[in-house]
Amino acid sequence: MNEAAAHGDTAGHGNHADHGDQRSSGRHWIHDVDPATDPTELWERFYAEGEPWSGRANPALVDELAERPIVVRPAGSIPSGTALDLGCGTGGDAIWLAGQGWQVDAVDISPTALARGAAAAQALGLGERICWSCHNLDTDVPAGSWDLVTTAYLHSPVRLDREQILRRAAAAVAAGGTLIIIGHLGAPSWMTEPPAHLDLPTPEEIVASLDLAGWTVVAARAVVVPSVASPEGVPGTRTDSVVRLQRTG
Ligand SMILES: C[S@@+](CC[C@H](N)C(=O)[O-])C[C@H]1O[C@@H](n2cnc3c(N)ncnc32)[C@H](O)[C@@H]1O
Repeated sequence: MNEAAAHGDTAGHGNHADHGDQRSSGRHWIHDVDPATDPTELWERFYAEGEPWSGRANPALVDELAERPIVVRPAGSIPSGTALDLGCGTGGDAIWLAGQGWQVDAVDISPTALARGAAAAQALGLGERICWSCHNLDTDVPAGSWDLVTTAYLHSPVRLDREQILRRAAAAVAAGGTLIIIGHLGAPSWMTEPPAHLDLPTPEEIVASLDLAGWTVVAARAVVVPSVASPEGVPGTRTDSVVRLQRTG
């Protein structure tokens, strides 16, 4: 397993200071923005303030694929399959997947985040394995079909029709392929006033909202992220959701 493959982090330290909860990344302002703010403008400002994440893969994704690996092609085949990461940020998951042998398409609305991911992948010798593209997922999802479509913490304080995006994500899964949706189920335990704007559906609600005929629910569970420290270093936990669906029909 090369350095890049060791990119994953299973011990709940997670991809960044604290996933999806921008407060612990010191970006308190993001929860007080005008909901009418242009999403590109918002996320470009967010990433312009430096690296909010650790660059490692999300433990929920690494653990899920460790528990139930996806085998698309014979072991040792490179690429081992094709993957699409929606709302990839600076690419922690995309780079980890590429290190595992996947050919990855990584999509985000922030050119700054994409450029940072591309540079990190290049530095790890994975530049050829990842195609980075800028899309506003509210209006378009790349055309094509993939063996694995994944999205992690695609939450936003401004316009984001998450349910519609998840439907389009499902439509992009090849026959026999897998959709993995990772999200928040609540705020970190140390957060006294969770951001009111975040709509955090349960795994069951996500499955029901997608209502996919011809799919198998492989996993729909809550996972506790054990170590989520506040910006002040107050230890805490957070509960996230993992939904995994396989296109069987
Ligand atoms: C909380 S971050 C999660 C990033 C990444 N999945 C991770 O786990 O590190 C949410 C990401 O969604 C992206 N995003 C938000 N709204 C979007 C949209 N409408 N289209 C595409 N990407 C969007 C943001 O730029 C940001 O990178």
